[in-house]
Amino acid sequence: MTLRMTLAASAASLCYASVVLAGPQAEVLHWWTSGGEARAVAVLQEEFSARGGTWTDMPVAGGGGDAAMTALRARVLSGNAPTAVQLKGPAIQEWYEEGVLADISSVAEAQGWADILPASIAGHMQCDGVWCAAPVNVHRVDWVWANKSIIEAHGIAMPTTWDEFNAAAEKLQAAGITPLAHGGQSWQDATVFETVVLGLGGPDFFRSALVDLDMDALTSDTMKAVFDQMRTLRGFVDSNFSGRDWNLATAMVMNGEAAFQIMGDWAKGEFLAAGKVPGEDFLCASTPGDGYLYNVDSFAMFSVSGDDNIAGQNLLAELIVGESFQKVFNLNKGSIPVRADVALDEFDSCAVLSANDMVATAEAGSLLPSYAHGMALRGAQAGAITDVVTAHFNSDMSADDAVRMLADAVANSL
Ligand code: BGC
Repeated sequence: MTLRMTLAASAASLCYASVVLAGPQAEVLHWWTSGGEARAVAVLQEEFSARGGTWTDMPVAGGGGDAAMTALRARVLSGNAPTAVQLKGPAIQEWYEEGVLADISSVAEAQGWADILPASIAGHMQCDGVWCAAPVNVHRVDWVWANKSIIEAHGIAMPTTWDEFNAAAEKLQAAGITPLAHGGQSWQDATVFETVVLGLGGPDFFRSALVDLDMDALTSDTMKAVFDQMRTLRGFVDSNFSGRDWNLATAMVMNGEAAFQIMGDWAKGEFLAAGKVPGEDFLCASTPGDGYLYNVDSFAMFSVSGDDNIAGQNLLAELIVGESFQKVFNLNKGSIPVRADVALDEFDSCAVLSANDMVATAEAGSLLPSYAHGMALRGAQAGAITDVVTAHFNSDMSADDAVRMLADAVANSL
């Protein structure tokens, strides 16, 4: 039985429920379970309820969404897809090709998404010419976060090169401070890795290596230098990092147990949820080097039947791109609105920096999709790279061996 047939059969069995229930319904699968994330998703729940919707929450904990995607596959294969799912980048297209996504073009056309969304983002939301996902935000991945009082007490400024970062970290380490808060989960290793690829190689190298999967780039001396820098960073991490969640690493910076974290700006959502103020308690700067790695959260709707379910999907799509949600959600989430027409006057300095850099890098050709957060590559290729990055980070593998393994893994995944 194809996925489409399985879904149709299960949708038929849901018909009775939709006759009895009134009003828009949505079961929403997402991985927003940390403090900042929960505050942000509550905004959508509240707006949905205020419009008469009934929200069934399906949170699947696990930063980066790996566990959520495993849960999604199980639900779809058992013929019981959730109505709305947090999905990103090429994974949207992959699910569309399975024939299981709903077409939300009627909402997109009524709200004029083609006019209000930047073209680079709109492209991710369209499948074969129809609108198949609704964009929530723009997260920037290439950030360094710092505990302000720790680094100032040691006469350290936010690093602008990787050499400066290493020198600052060595100084802190000599003073008995953990330089880098990190959680040893493969997606976090990949997050740090891609910022080093961008910083040491530059935007064109990033594109060749992690978007185009060019073998010369993947096996180059620059890539070896990236792995060497990863080895150096490994030396700045405390011994308990294995398996640590990203938000616990953020808490280490917040609580003065570590100086820096390299993480996307969902980390800022954690600082804000804890009442910390940018520029006073913590500092943000883009990771050393040029460019901007974007990560756009979005929701795709799975094909379901029943007027209530379809009304729920359409209402969610409309609210997600609506101005009110775009502002309030992103104030909590640490990201910036996907719509350029939402005023940023209530947003903090890190968000304003992100918005300005996004415009500047788009003009310069250095606005790039994050591979670590599922924006650049299909799952098989991204997973193959991440396996090597993690294997290298957690062993004494040489950079020469790492690039050889990287080339093999990518070649086998194509
Ligand atoms: C998502 C963010 C989320 C983060 C940590 C990223 O891939 O885009 O929305 O906060 O993972 O879970």
